[in-house]
Amino acid sequence: MSSISSNKLVIETVDLVKMYGPHVALEGLNLKLESGAIGILGPNGAGKSTFFKCILGLITTTSGQGKVLGYDIKTQGDIIRSRIGYMPEYDSLDPELTAIDQVRYSGELIGMNPAHATQRAHEVLEYVGLKDQRYRKIETFSTGMKQAAKLACALIHDPEILICDEPTNGLDQRSREFMLQTLRNTVQQGNRTVLMSGHVMDDIQEVCDSIVMIYKGKIVVHSRIEELARQVDEEIEISVWGGSSRMQESLESRGLSVRRLGRIIRIKVESEDTISVILECAVESGVQVRKMGEYEPDLEDIFLLIMDKLGAEVKTTSDLMTSEHTGGTNND
Ligand SMILES: Nc1ncnc2c1ncn2[C@@H]1O[C@H](COP(=O)(O)OP(=O)(O)OP(=O)(O)O)[C@@H](O)[C@H]1O
Ligand SMILES: [Mg+2]
Repeated sequence: MSSISSNKLVIETVDLVKMYGPHVALEGLNLKLESGAIGILGPNGAGKSTFFKCILGLITTTSGQGKVLGYDIKTQGDIIRSRIGYMPEYDSLDPELTAIDQVRYSGELIGMNPAHATQRAHEVLEYVGLKDQRYRKIETFSTGMKQAAKLACALIHDPEILICDEPTNGLDQRSREFMLQTLRNTVQQGNRTVLMSGHVMDDIQEVCDSIVMIYKGKIVVHSRIEELARQVDEEIEISVWGGSSRMQESLESRGLSVRRLGRIIRIKVESEDTISVILECAVESGVQVRKMGEYEPDLEDIFLLIMDKLGAEVKTTSDLMTSEHTGGTNND
């Protein structure tokens, strides 16, 4: 299980800025990442891939500083890349090569001698579940097999840090689970640091113990996953019978923030009086409150709540929770 902070600092950035022409992709990131499993979460265009490319020294940064394992991202990219495995989001494989040649080649590219690269290629292809397919050409591979092959390429030199940019992208449930299990093994048994990005919490929470949320090039949350619930407001969840939209109106007319999914209504706790206000509203709108309790949001919901607060263009929880917004039927 996750260990408490005896972890060492592996990545550090100070006011890191990356612009593409006039477009600000990273707006002054200040980040200290310790060894372990870290999820980089954010909607499309947030800057996740840009962040990875900057710390790998693959693109020039506009201003600010960064260090990976103590090496400077501006001047020591070569050393950094020899210590980090990188699984990019794009298809980086040569369809003409067999898996074994592809993986061995990626080792040779970073300076491994051919014999060692070959031996390691066999090992890592087995590790990612491609032992039986290693002599097949990449062009015959499914998306899941290609993602696994990309991971094998990233692991060829047994890196201290593994960076995976959306490793579960396009995978079906079985390949997804296998990929996540492999990443978990890399952290827990291999004792490596893993940074993985994604735009849903589900995948990240299966591997990571801390999380960095990026939104429009800024870090909005950096927290251990188990402490994430503290980042959002407390809510009371009630289940009502007979007129839930009337109940919603009544609550909102009293100035409460409400999210509703059919008969389930979640109300932000404003004060100690919130419960009595809810009960008054129930009487006023003639509904029965069947259940009432503190709402324990799951991590996906927390992510959506935070993004919602920031006004992101992700599907918001209020969209998800209120049927009127989607033009669906009211489940009264
Ligand atoms: N080479 C480039 N030239 C110009 N703009 C770019 C370039 N690469 C990225 N951008 C822009 O920078 C911003 C951040 O992009 P980035 O690819 O880092 O986001 P991301 O979080 O990885 O998104 P996704 O989830 O879609 O992969 C986006 O607005 C994107 O359009
Ligand atoms: Mg990306």
